[in-house]
Amino acid sequence: MSHELSRRQVLKLVSYVSAGTAAVGSVPLISRFFTDRANAQTTTFVRENIYAFMQSPQKVAALRRGVQVMKSRSANNPTSWAYQANMHGTTTRPLLTAWNTCDHGTFFFFPWHRMYLYFFERILRQASGDPTLALPYWNYSDVEAQRVLPEPFRIPADEVANSLYESDRTGNINVNGGAALPATIVAYASAFRRTNFFHTTTGSSFGGRRVSQTGHASSGKGELERRPHDQVHVSIGGLMGNPVTAAQDPIFWLHHANIDRLWERWLRQGGGRVNPTDDLDWMNDTFTFFDENSNAVQMSGRQVLDTATQLNYMYDDPLSASNNSVASSSPSTDINSQRTGASTPQEISISASEQQVTFVLGDTPLTLTASSQDLLARRVLVENSIVTLNVTGVEYEQENPTSYDIYINLPQGATPNPNSPYYAGILSLFSLPQKGTFSLDITDVVSDLQKRNQLGGSITVTFVAPPKRVPSPNRIRQTRPTQPRGVVRFSGVTITRQ
Ligand code: C2O
Repeated sequence: MSHELSRRQVLKLVSYVSAGTAAVGSVPLISRFFTDRANAQTTTFVRENIYAFMQSPQKVAALRRGVQVMKSRSANNPTSWAYQANMHGTTTRPLLTAWNTCDHGTFFFFPWHRMYLYFFERILRQASGDPTLALPYWNYSDVEAQRVLPEPFRIPADEVANSLYESDRTGNINVNGGAALPATIVAYASAFRRTNFFHTTTGSSFGGRRVSQTGHASSGKGELERRPHDQVHVSIGGLMGNPVTAAQDPIFWLHHANIDRLWERWLRQGGGRVNPTDDLDWMNDTFTFFDENSNAVQMSGRQVLDTATQLNYMYDDPLSASNNSVASSSPSTDINSQRTGASTPQEISISASEQQVTFVLGDTPLTLTASSQDLLARRVLVENSIVTLNVTGVEYEQENPTSYDIYINLPQGATPNPNSPYYAGILSLFSLPQKGTFSLDITDVVSDLQKRNQLGGSITVTFVAPPKRVPSPNRIRQTRPTQPRGVVRFSGVTITRQ
């Protein structure tokens, strides 16, 4: 009886709305409820590859308009460009709600950025005035020709006329001039080889180190965060090169849509690749965002597991499998987050010296060698052990974070190649705390080398600098002189076996 009554009331209120009478306080709420339900059932937004998206001048115009409108809003408006960017990082004080909350270096990296993009996209859509607009993604991962920064983001090279253009892209690749990101920067095969979403002690996993609480800048980066994520940031440089300013550059959002898409694809590889849904912290820790009406919203991992059913969006490549050479590796040697080893850690000092030394990384590769007297170095891996490489006392200038590739036992004279068995990982300084120890799980690499008998009586560790900025023949204009590469120092390298 009362059920009948309330249904009649609802119907009555709705008919008020259609008659244009909005005087009753509860009417707008109910009508919005119905509208949202209707949308939820009918609209799944498709995030398109920007190279397809930009074939439509209307879509590019809507994207430009949305960015332009957001940029015109004041910084204390949660739906403004500045407020959204400051949520990622800012030096502005006082900090407003949710500013400086991006999550790097932990297993919250993927879910946090998914939520961030989701609400940003809703704000952008509303600002653009186009109810069909979805955020495109920049697929620098699969098609070589698409490693060039998409044209709408660099032409016209005018920040007033083109809201997608940013002059401060001054990293080692001249992206505004049309130079393509090198294959080594965007490679994701080594990240996809990982079958574990997280790792409990280092970042060596697809998604980062397990922690119980979010970390704004922690050192447990997963493989995909190191490469391609960090590498793309640093190669573009300028605003993108620093987490504090990165989200001010419009290309940030397309870069992250691609990272979010790669997360989907990684899951689709199967082979035990799953989200950590058993982890209550990952599932339930909440983060704050703002919707298009400036309302603060809380969200947690369990709400972003399935983009199509929970967040109303999907990518335009739902079924294609990855064409990056994932299958060529041996997944059986992949480390697992559950792996536990002998309880006493053993340690080798690489290039042990009684005096305090500081190593400085520069353009020429630096190789350190463990003493061959060290028993551990002769047989670094025993069954079921976890081998970790630690670079201690790392310091760098935040202005210009860079990264170094790390190789184990790279033969003399060999050209360093991240697809070779000597490649151990990347020392990636983007968003790393400015002083600290950087750890990398190298179990796979040493077990591989041991199997090939390439782990003799000693271990060498080689640091290789990224390629220098290559000037592009068709550059549009010089934005500002290339900054010198920041200096990176560290106090030593150790390898521990556990
Ligand atoms: Cu939160 Cu690509 O950075």
